[in-house]
Amino acid sequence: MLLPPRQQYLDALGIDLWVSRTSAPAAGQPLAAAAIRARAPAPPEASANAAPVAVPPAVQLPQSAPAAGPDAPLWQALREEVLTCTRCPLHLTRTQGVFGVGPQLADWLVVGEAPGAEEDRRGEPFVGAAGQLLDAMLKAIGLDRTSNVYIANVLKSRPPGNRDPKPDEVSACMPYLQRQIELLRPKIMLAVGRIAAQSLLGTDAPLGRLRSQVHHFGAIPLVVTYHPAYLLRSPGEKRKAWEDLKFARGVYQQLAHGTISDGQRA
Ligand code: URA
Repeated sequence: MLLPPRQQYLDALGIDLWVSRTSAPAAGQPLAAAAIRARAPAPPEASANAAPVAVPPAVQLPQSAPAAGPDAPLWQALREEVLTCTRCPLHLTRTQGVFGVGPQLADWLVVGEAPGAEEDRRGEPFVGAAGQLLDAMLKAIGLDRTSNVYIANVLKSRPPGNRDPKPDEVSACMPYLQRQIELLRPKIMLAVGRIAAQSLLGTDAPLGRLRSQVHHFGAIPLVVTYHPAYLLRSPGEKRKAWEDLKFARGVYQQLAHGTISDGQRA
């Protein structure tokens, strides 16, 4: 049977939506969070009484045109600066700098940690195994790097052996991300993983304490979730990541409806 696209993405995330027949929500009502569970063999009783439900269509988010705007020369200059950067010793071991990808008018900015081996080879963020999971996660909330989300890393050069970035590497590279943010002016940011969250928020709080709340980077709302590489190692946490994504989508929807202000755009 051919699954609807969003169900395919949730499958890729390892998330099933199940609902008891006796507690099925009326049409138009949101699915209860309790009806969402991580992929795991259903206990015999539950599987006898539960059936997969149709997933509501992905939220229609405003699409940002990928066309170059008046800031295109500034983007180009920044890209060239990043690709020729020698501010830290990582330029000696990288294959190339990894700038960022996505439309220059995207409302969403996803920030990761640093390029891995595949990103270093191809010059684009999140194109390895973790990137495939990230794409599936983003698609599940209607986001795609070709149309409405920009993706960048804190570090633009790969740390050898994928070790954690050093504080002085983060300090050297952060101004590039700051300028990307100034040019992009995203409505919402999603930090994936501890390093991105801590670097952006200037905290050493553990990721678990940073989830499920709206932070701000300057005036921009920022939500924190797990890094997809961590989710590949700990698939049991995918359900929590799905909760984070829905939380971020809700924050964005409130912004779009003017319920809360992002302090940036009208
Ligand atoms: N992990 C990251 O944080 N960024 C990438 O681009 C790839 C893997």
